[in-house]
Amino acid sequence: MKWRCAVCGYIHHGENPPEICPVCGVDSSYFEKIDTQPQETSEKVPMEILTPEEAVKKAVRSLSYGLFIITANHEEKDNGQTANTCFQITSDPVQVAIGINKNNYTHELISKSGKFGVSILDQNGGDLARNFGYRSGREVNKFEGIKAHRGILGVLVLDEALANLEAKVVNSMDTGTHTLFLGTVASGEVLGNGKPMTYDYFRSKNDLKKRKTP
Ligand SMILES: Cc1cc2nc3c(=O)[nH]c(=O)nc-3n(C[C@H](O)[C@H](O)[C@H](O)COP(=O)(O)O)c2cc1C
Repeated sequence: MKWRCAVCGYIHHGENPPEICPVCGVDSSYFEKIDTQPQETSEKVPMEILTPEEAVKKAVRSLSYGLFIITANHEEKDNGQTANTCFQITSDPVQVAIGINKNNYTHELISKSGKFGVSILDQNGGDLARNFGYRSGREVNKFEGIKAHRGILGVLVLDEALANLEAKVVNSMDTGTHTLFLGTVASGEVLGNGKPMTYDYFRSKNDLKKRKTP
């Protein structure tokens, strides 16, 4: 069986998807099964027949998301990672939640400092998502060559974002592979008026880019 990472396009061969994508580090829920069975008929099949597990995976992939760079600072250390799991929970006070993999360097810095930044990408932010998404700040300085400034909590946020937020962690929940951090927003700024990047838009452009690469 073949499985394709919906984030970076990595192909895995095996009965089940890998627990962690070896290229971009996302977990098995990001993998989709590639149908390698030849079609027996040229007629259009209106709906796939799915097992209950496949139906759950496919239904979950229909959820829509934005795309963000979650940034963190602890003492003199700065880092950022791409994330699609960021959403507003309440408006009074303004609270946002983020889902961060426990293996990520960003997770370590947020856990230690109790604060994080959110740079909300616009549709030109594909290179930023790739820069912050496919490698770890434990190995490289992802801010090299990236224009950024510090907010009032001391977290670096991106100059080329649509908008930025900084939040103080007020609660967190262990969800297994990830921690769900709940933050109260301490500052916000709007830097652009483009369209927000969606996860779906990023994936479609990322796939096109890969197909054009020889
Ligand atoms: C489009 C995209 C969306 C991602 N969404 C998330 C996410 O919501 N949560 C998460 O923990 N990792 C997510 N990742 C994976 C991290 O960005 C990636 O593992 C990163 O290298 C972690 O970096 P760090 O170790 O420097 O923190 C995503 C990656 C991409 C490319």
